[in-house]
Amino acid sequence: MCGIVGYIGKRDTQSVLIEGLKKLEYRGYDSAGIAVFTPEGLQISKSIGRLANLESKLEAAPLVGSAGIGHTRWATHGKPSDVNSHPHTDNSEKFSVVHNGIVENYLELKEELIGQGHVFVSETDTEVISHLVAREYDGDIVKAVQKAISYMRGAFALGVLTEYEPHKLVAVRQASPLIIGLGEGENFIGSDIPAILKYTRNVYILNDGEMAVLTEDSVELMTIEGNFISREMIHVDWDAVTAEKNGFDHFMLKEIHEQPKAYRDTIRGRVDESGRKVVLKDLNLTEDRIKQIQNVHIVACGTAYHAGLVGGTVIEQLVRVPVYNDVASEYRYRSPLITPETLVIVVSQSGETADTLAALREAKSNGAHVLAVTNVVGSSIARDADDVLVTLAGPEIAVASTKAYSSQLIAFYLLGLYLAQVRGTQSEDQVAHMISAIQALPEQVESMLENSDAIKAYAEQISHNQHLFFIGRGLDYAVAQEGSLKLKEISYIHSEAYAAGELKHGTLALIEDGIPVIALATQDSVLEKTVSNIKEVKARGADVMVITHEEHVASLLKSVDQAFAIPKTLPLFTPALSVVPLQLLSYYASLALGHDVDKPRNLAKSVTVE
Ligand code: F6R
Repeated sequence: MCGIVGYIGKRDTQSVLIEGLKKLEYRGYDSAGIAVFTPEGLQISKSIGRLANLESKLEAAPLVGSAGIGHTRWATHGKPSDVNSHPHTDNSEKFSVVHNGIVENYLELKEELIGQGHVFVSETDTEVISHLVAREYDGDIVKAVQKAISYMRGAFALGVLTEYEPHKLVAVRQASPLIIGLGEGENFIGSDIPAILKYTRNVYILNDGEMAVLTEDSVELMTIEGNFISREMIHVDWDAVTAEKNGFDHFMLKEIHEQPKAYRDTIRGRVDESGRKVVLKDLNLTEDRIKQIQNVHIVACGTAYHAGLVGGTVIEQLVRVPVYNDVASEYRYRSPLITPETLVIVVSQSGETADTLAALREAKSNGAHVLAVTNVVGSSIARDADDVLVTLAGPEIAVASTKAYSSQLIAFYLLGLYLAQVRGTQSEDQVAHMISAIQALPEQVESMLENSDAIKAYAEQISHNQHLFFIGRGLDYAVAQEGSLKLKEISYIHSEAYAAGELKHGTLALIEDGIPVIALATQDSVLEKTVSNIKEVKARGADVMVITHEEHVASLLKSVDQAFAIPKTLPLFTPALSVVPLQLLSYYASLALGHDVDKPRNLAKSVTVE
């Protein structure tokens, strides 16, 4: 996730762009840059790190002009660096592009362009776009952009300028957000409304496959094939703070709702066109090394550890190799048995967690191949690992992790299938069947998010309790642990997650009249056993809510007080769905109790101390 902004008009372009980027910094803060038409031509200034670095650079050497584009980057292809920052240009330096998204086939396009004499300076997919536009330019920037994007696959929101037509700004939307802001004698583009809200409240929202051509006095809308379209203007009456949350009351709720997109982005480009194979092109882990793996260690903290629990089951079941999960703060102090045949997977949203970083270093010093599943490409963990499988959830602002966790699950599903393909432990048909189930998950999450009233009501009901239990078996137990952590951290209600069969070995003593028990029952192979455990707590007076598939609701309602149905998927993939009601439950419970949902007490987003 990156942020883009663009301006054409009579104001000080540089400050309009910087103000816009300040509002977009939540979308990425690895680097920032702007391109402005100055009297000397199209000039670019960019800098690694926070926007403040770019601002200092511009203070020393301002860019003064009448139109420009700007970008704040969340690295996906290519580490954070000055050269990988946007805007990108071509060899003639007459074209400039900012991009939010991923060009899936950029490597093929880059090879083709290199063969035609183009010279690249960065590792990004975006640089390919500026070269393509330059190659296709024949006196009409709109046609050149249309031709360029006809070669591209993937997701992109673009802002494009050329020195040859300084009175035009071209914008494109294909599966990445983009809005057009309408002013008097000036117009704007932005990844979202807050970027331009200071200047105008009148906007067009572009749909996928649409583009806009902006001048100071006009905005033309068309499809990417060039058919003109009209659109109703929207007048935004949100205040600036609400706008940053895209209309949601809290970042956490916004991020819960961003999960379908995070799933799609994490899957994009990692399944071949036939839909039958997972392709993880960027991995350094060779097929030979994959075949030599004797065991897998998955190491992480907190929510990332819980994603690793699901990942462990996925890898063990698909690849049939032993997997050991460990919390990072324990790992290196127990002298783990690590050999060069051990694959160590560290999981970290921030990529900066001190314990996880220390575990990674311990594993590397013992000769293991370390693969990081992380959301931040330029993070310490990403830089130190031998391999990075990036989750494309975009920046997560709320302290309680939601979309990062569920994107980590998607990363594990893809990784598990990839390892299984290489080791031949799943047939091509089995892999294809599982890929199509993974691809259906985003829509299934959307359907759950549209029906959250029952969970909200339940959350309000349990918010007055002081203790609560989550139970489940197998993968349901892994998700129960995440549900329990989420509830504790933002609602401050004490809760515990138990393997459903384990309660009777002690904890059952705590079950008394009216205590809420949330049972996850999505794993058909152990459903009957889970139902027996539900009956055990019910018999001691517990008030039971079950999360299960629609087909089991009627029969389970004979044993429980309430049931919440999740859509049907393959057993391995249920965590990517069943976690959603649990996230909503903790959100609404925290809200009902009047807590600061996004910034719970005593906690920080990134834990860089041991
Ligand atoms: C809980 C939460 C934490 C983190 C943990 C690891 O919602 O966010 O438990 O998961 O601190 O952080 P990362 O993933 O950044 O290593």
